[in-house]
Amino acid sequence: MSRITVKDILNRKLKEKRKITALTAYDFPFAKLVDEADIDIVLVGDSVGMVCLGYESTLPVSMREMIHHAKAVSRAAKHALIVADMPFGSYQGVESALRNARRFLKEANAHAVKLEGGKPILAQVKALVRSGIPVMGHLGMTPQTAGQLGGYRVQGKTQVDAGRILEDARSLEEAGVFAMVLECVPKVLGKRITRSVRVPTIGIGAGPDTDGQILVLHDLLGFDSAIQPRFVRRYAQISRVVRRALARYRRDVVGKKFPSAKESF
Ligand code: KIV
Repeated sequence: MSRITVKDILNRKLKEKRKITALTAYDFPFAKLVDEADIDIVLVGDSVGMVCLGYESTLPVSMREMIHHAKAVSRAAKHALIVADMPFGSYQGVESALRNARRFLKEANAHAVKLEGGKPILAQVKALVRSGIPVMGHLGMTPQTAGQLGGYRVQGKTQVDAGRILEDARSLEEAGVFAMVLECVPKVLGKRITRSVRVPTIGIGAGPDTDGQILVLHDLLGFDSAIQPRFVRRYAQISRVVRRALARYRRDVVGKKFPSAKESF
């Protein structure tokens, strides 16, 4: 299978009218499974901080950590478009945005980067696009600025807020993003933005009318998590499976049932 490109993602909306599938992944084995499942985009999200590293938010995630995880993902994913999240503090100025985004492409073999925000980061988005780095936007509930937004809550509920997010979406499109994530916005706003921009929208808690959907892989698989957002559909109960396996292993070792003669040399 050939590599999915930014152009393919655009064509899903403009030509094929086919929904885009996207998931996060942070390591080799899961990225391989996501890739083999024929998912279009694998996002090395800064959610790695909460999902894999035990941080309470995405804010402490560093470039070093992101590069480390993005490298593992890109070794595994041979088909999906690999998008790397720019962590908090890595794109506050144009220079740092360029320097850090280049690292994702050169060192970690990512194909694109994702940045959170609208108008305040347009200069960075434009500079990245000008220098040949594909950029995915991220609007609505932007976890890196959740503090300013009043926590992890639905955004764009008032007319003023919805209008601002719509404006941001138009500005991001003009700045050259190839797609944008819409997180936690009312479904009517998800639909409105999707109809207002030519580039694909990829929703997470943005209703059924966006051009694609993304979820955090570990949420979909049913790993334990402190937060259980309403927009997550759990397709498995992995924590339960793992717990059962570990209990059986412990029981077998303590009960001298493992290893058996067949499992020994
Ligand atoms: O970091 C992340 O996982 C994300 C998705 C929620 C879109 O940004």
